[in-house]
Amino acid sequence: MDHFIEIQNLVKEYYGRGILNRRKVTVRAVDRVSFSIRRNTVFGLVGESGCGKTTLVRSILYLDPPTSGSVRIDGTLLGDLPARELRAFRKRMQIVFQDPNSALNPKMRIADSLMEGLINRGLPTNVCDRRIRRLLDLVGIAARHRRRFPHEFSGGQKQRIVIARALCMEPDFLVLDEPVSNLDVSIQAQIINLLLDLKSELTLTYLFISHDLNLVLYFSDRVGVMYRGRLLELASSDEILKAPCHPYTQQLFSSAPGKDHGVPHSDAPVHRNQQPADDRDQPFLRGCPYEVECSISDDVCQENEPHLREIRRGHQVACFKV
Ligand SMILES: Nc1ncnc2c1ncn2[C@@H]1O[C@H](COP(=O)(O)OP(=O)(O)OP(=O)(O)O)[C@@H](O)[C@H]1O
Ligand SMILES: [Mg+2]
Repeated sequence: MDHFIEIQNLVKEYYGRGILNRRKVTVRAVDRVSFSIRRNTVFGLVGESGCGKTTLVRSILYLDPPTSGSVRIDGTLLGDLPARELRAFRKRMQIVFQDPNSALNPKMRIADSLMEGLINRGLPTNVCDRRIRRLLDLVGIAARHRRRFPHEFSGGQKQRIVIARALCMEPDFLVLDEPVSNLDVSIQAQIINLLLDLKSELTLTYLFISHDLNLVLYFSDRVGVMYRGRLLELASSDEILKAPCHPYTQQLFSSAPGKDHGVPHSDAPVHRNQQPADDRDQPFLRGCPYEVECSISDDVCQENEPHLREIRRGHQVACFKV
């Protein structure tokens, strides 16, 4: 199998002080995460706010190196690369964040923002200009608007420009960290479809992050469900849709706002989802991380830690009760 990206046992720990007793504690934001992504496919990572999604991708890209574990991309073990080679390699991996406003310099014309990336690649100016027009065309922005400033564009248009800028480097791997959660639902669909078109046109591989399960299922080939730094379920989108097994995945479905993804329901348990980091001061919890919230947990779940195990071909679940 052609696994373009292989992540094994990734751990990211932070050191800080606990809120209650101010003792020094280790917080494990990412806990022994393993998964792989095939070339030209989308892996979706879903989980509530604070579960460690951004921390995980920052570790994968070595923007903030993992505490332990390994990341292999297209055969290269990133942990083995000296800093210079890592910087060069990183051009192949680009990241698009949630907020296009903070990604674009408000004082720069968008052509200049795009130009920065191209000049870094050592291309002559006339080639850059041609490339910028093509990139803008690719993401559906009229090239004649390239002398405009970011504030002259809508949110959706700005996110298209951010995507164009990520593509400047001709990456083969894009990390999309909640790329549409700041946008209106109608615009979200446009950007998602644009990303899907670009993926086939440019043979890209995506790691897509969202707290919106429906959106992740629509967009991704495979899905990982993350909770408190750990993967609780891993399967194809079809499998998760047809037969979600982990009680937490099922809870995500029941609190999801149906088909019109993106808009939180007023009765959805939003506050419960926004877990403060600080009730996680105890660094190495015993048992299942979901045990307290789970409706079917028992003593076994309190005492023992469930590991991912395959229950059907390609479908892994970390739960004793499944
Ligand atoms: N630099 C840091 N120092 C200490 N703790 C951190 C640091 N960065 C992240 N964390 C903690 O790691 C946990 C995971 O945070 P992270 O931002 O990865 O979550 P997330 O799933 O991306 O959330 P969201 O959906 O809100 O973006 C949080 O509890 C956060 O407080
Ligand atoms: Mg995040």
